Amino acid sequence: MSDNVFNKIDVMMAEIQSYTIDSAEQLEAFRIQYLGSKNAIKPVFGEIRNVPNEQKKEFGQKVNDLKQAAEGRFNTISTLLKKQSQNNAAADIDLTAPAYCGFGGARHPIATTMGKIIDIFERIGFVVAEEREIEDDWHNFTAMNTPEDHPARDMQDTFYLKDSANRLLRTHTSSVQSRMMTSNKPPIRIIAPGRVYRNETISARSHCQFHQVEGLYIDEKVSFADMKQTLLYFTREMYGADKEIRLRPSYFPFTEPSAEMDVYWGLESDTDYKITKGTGYLEILGCGMVDPNVLSSCGIDPEKYSGFAFGMGIERQAMLLYNIGDIRLLFENDIRFLKQFESVV
Ligand code: DAH
Repeated sequence: MSDNVFNKIDVMMAEIQSYTIDSAEQLEAFRIQYLGSKNAIKPVFGEIRNVPNEQKKEFGQKVNDLKQAAEGRFNTISTLLKKQSQNNAAADIDLTAPAYCGFGGARHPIATTMGKIIDIFERIGFVVAEEREIEDDWHNFTAMNTPEDHPARDMQDTFYLKDSANRLLRTHTSSVQSRMMTSNKPPIRIIAPGRVYRNETISARSHCQFHQVEGLYIDEKVSFADMKQTLLYFTREMYGADKEIRLRPSYFPFTEPSAEMDVYWGLESDTDYKITKGTGYLEILGCGMVDPNVLSSCGIDPEKYSGFAFGMGIERQAMLLYNIGDIRLLFENDIRFLKQFESVV
């Protein structure tokens, strides 16, 4: 009888050791079978009463071995399976895939265009001067040779603030000229980038807010030829070494003589035709020799000093550079539009 029981233990031990456990399900079945609350070892242990006294110790020992063997296998295999599943998860990761960095933002085309223009002028000694967007009437108009009854005030529809000081949103960066000339002594060589405002109907071509870069150079004996050379240098740095410019006589209250500068763009493609209105030329900026009235209004002796000034719009240049067909896109902050400039620096 007791041999029979001992035999049962050996068989069970062999079963425990050879039980196939290749999956979490099989491991669970094994646990229920040998370690669960109704496990197969328990009834074997109950057989102790049928074992002769002198063999009880050995019997107890053997059943204990059974239990330990079951626990041992369970622990080893459960650790093994856990490791395997971690390895499988790791195997699903493609280590060669390029990292996804998300949309980290992009520089706005206005900012990059402005940056290019500033860089070019800084290389020849112009210094950036930034000034206020809320201006007084004097700096924006009067000092710039545009007194109150001057018809040129109608050229620019002004946003006035409802305050006693008759302040306004500057209509051009030319206001920085009077700011600089009243607070500095020549030589003055500045460029003034910034936002300007005009009460205009918003369309694909114009907006009530836009950006300009102003330039001003005052010193002894500054000539029209200096201006022309400076602007030619700018154009070629910005648009290509083969570019030609042309200066057309024009009128601005603050310069005399005044001109508008065109760049020869070409007339090869349909787009060239469209953007140059069939002329081949693109108007880029207004310029001229600073009017002696402006110099004296700002406390600079026009007998001793002369200078040139220019002012250019940024939006149109950004639209040219990046082939943007509608100015409104530059102000709507549509992420689908901005995302396209991710790689532009
Ligand atoms: N302020 C002018 C405008 O907004 C542009 C301009 C023309 C600026 C001639 C200048 C200049 O400095 O000399 O239309």
